[in-house]
Amino acid sequence: MTTPPATKVSDVSELRHQLVEQLRADNHIRTAAVERAFRTVPRHVFAPDVAVEAAYANDIIPTRHAPDGRVISSVSAPWLQADMLEAARIRPGHRGLEIGSGGYNAALMAELVGPAGHVTTLDIDPAVTDRATRFLTETGYDRVRVVTTDAEHLPAGVVPDGGFDAIVVTVDTWDLPWIDALTEGGRLIAPLRLHGYHWAIGFTKDEGTLHSDEPLIVCGFVAMQGDGAWQTNRRTVPGTGVHLSWEDGTPLSVDQLASALTREPTVTRTHVTVGGQEPFDALTLYLAGALPGFCRLEVDPDGDNGVLNPPPRHWPGAAIIRGASLARLATERICDGDDGKGLYEFVVHGHGAQGHVAAQEMAEQVRHWQRNHRGARCPLITARPTADCAPAGTGHEPHVFAKKHTRITVD
Ligand SMILES: C[S@@+](CC[C@H](N)C(=O)[O-])C[C@H]1O[C@@H](n2cnc3c(N)ncnc32)[C@H](O)[C@@H]1O
Repeated sequence: MTTPPATKVSDVSELRHQLVEQLRADNHIRTAAVERAFRTVPRHVFAPDVAVEAAYANDIIPTRHAPDGRVISSVSAPWLQADMLEAARIRPGHRGLEIGSGGYNAALMAELVGPAGHVTTLDIDPAVTDRATRFLTETGYDRVRVVTTDAEHLPAGVVPDGGFDAIVVTVDTWDLPWIDALTEGGRLIAPLRLHGYHWAIGFTKDEGTLHSDEPLIVCGFVAMQGDGAWQTNRRTVPGTGVHLSWEDGTPLSVDQLASALTREPTVTRTHVTVGGQEPFDALTLYLAGALPGFCRLEVDPDGDNGVLNPPPRHWPGAAIIRGASLARLATERICDGDDGKGLYEFVVHGHGAQGHVAAQEMAEQVRHWQRNHRGARCPLITARPTADCAPAGTGHEPHVFAKKHTRITVD
């Protein structure tokens, strides 16, 4: 057996600098401080189980799997780490907290806070914190404090007097129980789940409330474990292969929808168009907040019953339930578009006796979004501790997501 030639240090540095050039060219690295951190920290040492070429690819590196094969820990993709660190606006002397560990991102943060600052990284999984501690020591970042704990309950002594200046959450989260741990004016960046859709959102704390002020970053992270793990209420409409799910709002009964979903839908046009490559996550987030009875709809891949054809692509579609009727957002290709990638119109399919009424309601909200929100740079999201809010009512409060620790408003 021949041993593959070892990669020389100069080659590794070259790969690292190439990655930085790519991140700069794609505008993920935007400041000299973040660039310097990426040029300095040896990413491959935090991923010894993969080839150095894979360590410096612009992609995630899975590091731990659940028995069912799900990835439960990873070194996140460099483009996303760069975007989140830029959004965190970490400065020399800051006290930073990373939630969800691995070592590499904490080392980047340590570079950003410098010798006058301090970084704590925590993880629920002792195998992850063991590895992180080892790699941070090997690379000389042993000043980073590594803590094994469920981030839902920050242990006394972890939060510095006056709070952290920056908190970077690197695990999908349904809620933001860390507002009290952040100093006034501090930054928190987190991949937040709103009705099952998720974006990394950068917030600044002002008078005890978090305010977003940057474009949302479409991303995917491993799922939160422990007491903060979210519950998806997923219900199957009998005999249809159609599943409806709620992560926020009150789950509704779905059995009565079976006959509606086996009949041809009505189609309500919106005259609002979208390019074939254009994301419309801001629309689905808007609809999730605007419409009572909102849920996400998925169809079994092999369960095409002809009525819900074509089934939602990419991720679960937006739907609303009105009694025994349902409306769902769909798109129809209308032409090739200027770029040849297709131009689509949003249409709303109505199922059941009142499906057309529900479809008109949803279509009107699509038009409202087009008129009043689409041109905006990004939705403004605020998160206020639940303890500081009046008790939530039982009815639908538009654009408010009532979580356990926070009340989140999307404007
Ligand atoms: C994507 S990985 C973190 C990647 C890391 N920040 C890096 O250097 O790229 C997400 C981590 O979150 C951790 N995690 C999941 N639930 C948690 C919880 N409740 N508290 C703390 N950590 C948690 C997982 O064990 C996993 O290691």
